[in-house]
Amino acid sequence: MDIEHVRSRFKKHFNDEVGSVYASPGRINLIGEHTDYNGGFVFPGAIDKGMVAEIKVNGTDKVRAYSIDLKDYVEFGLNEEDAPKASWARYIFGVCREIIKRGGKIQGFDTAFAGDVPLGAGMSSSAALESTFAFALNDMFNLGIDKFELAKIGQATEHNYCGVNCGIMDQFASVFGKEGSLIRLDCRSLEYKYFPFKPVGYKLVLLDSVVKHELASSAYNKRRQSCETAAAAIRNNNHPEVEFLRDATMDMLKEVKDQISAEDYMRAEYVIEEVQRVLDVCDALERGDYETVGQKMYETHHGMSKLYEVSCEELDYLNDIAKKCGVTGSRVMGGGFGGCTINLVKDELHDAFIKEAFASYKEKFGHEPKLYEVVISDGARKLA
Ligand code: GLA
Repeated sequence: MDIEHVRSRFKKHFNDEVGSVYASPGRINLIGEHTDYNGGFVFPGAIDKGMVAEIKVNGTDKVRAYSIDLKDYVEFGLNEEDAPKASWARYIFGVCREIIKRGGKIQGFDTAFAGDVPLGAGMSSSAALESTFAFALNDMFNLGIDKFELAKIGQATEHNYCGVNCGIMDQFASVFGKEGSLIRLDCRSLEYKYFPFKPVGYKLVLLDSVVKHELASSAYNKRRQSCETAAAAIRNNNHPEVEFLRDATMDMLKEVKDQISAEDYMRAEYVIEEVQRVLDVCDALERGDYETVGQKMYETHHGMSKLYEVSCEELDYLNDIAKKCGVTGSRVMGGGFGGCTINLVKDELHDAFIKEAFASYKEKFGHEPKLYEVVISDGARKLA
């Protein structure tokens, strides 16, 4: 994250002014995918890539925002109801609206921001942007909003201004991240626990398929709908305690097999298994048993590909290469439909795996994947 770059752009666009600088990271997720909106567990960590924004109150009721990466400028009034057209600006607009909705008193500001989380790679660049502004405005205007609510402001921004009915994982990780630790979050009770994650002898490697699926948000919302349909069927079938799929067992699901579509059944099956896998991985980590961690990652990939159907040919191919090379664990990461695989690779296998993945991916798809080595880092913070 290049702070000096942001500072120089801010100066240039806003009359040599100097503001405060805030940053918020993207995230990885070791395991627990599509479990958050089902009240289940997730296991993310913030990374050393994110968004940096310089911000200064401008004495008006307008926000003047400059995206350094996109070289695009947008203005909107804090009292306007209509969101800006530019999708990047909707995130900032949404955060302002959600704070105002909660009674937060904010004033107009100038901002320039840039990021190094690759867009559409499943590393939550949008959550990084939301958390940067939610954290910054809370700090600058002394709003006293707690950290969970900051994450929820980001999530509500996705729901109400960006059309994605996402869970809480990405914004939570971006706000609560801690250097060297993954965080297990129970998305029903919101209890969380930090797990130091320094797998000696292994590297965590992200391989970006560079595939971006255009319909990802509507397909995502459809998955969520399937889960809610399945949970409702179970609840109405004499299990009133089942609020989310997290509360259901495979036996309960089997009881309603004839009442829901085959597709909804498969989606629910994946979720019920995935919730359990997160707990298994946490146990395995406490024993230092990385073989089990890796095996669960492969199981997740299989479920996401065959039951939840959020993988794609390119990601399946990257997963196959990992398996053939003897990589300990590999799976599609994040919402899916494109983006990265996350791989847990033994140090001694790392170079050979990357070489093989690049060569065979290029041979099959005509271009190489991208490689990101990530460091587990701190969450939202003020830099200057
Ligand atoms: C996206 C969403 C998250 C979560 C993941 C899948 O990243 O924003 O809330 O549902 O997909 O685990």
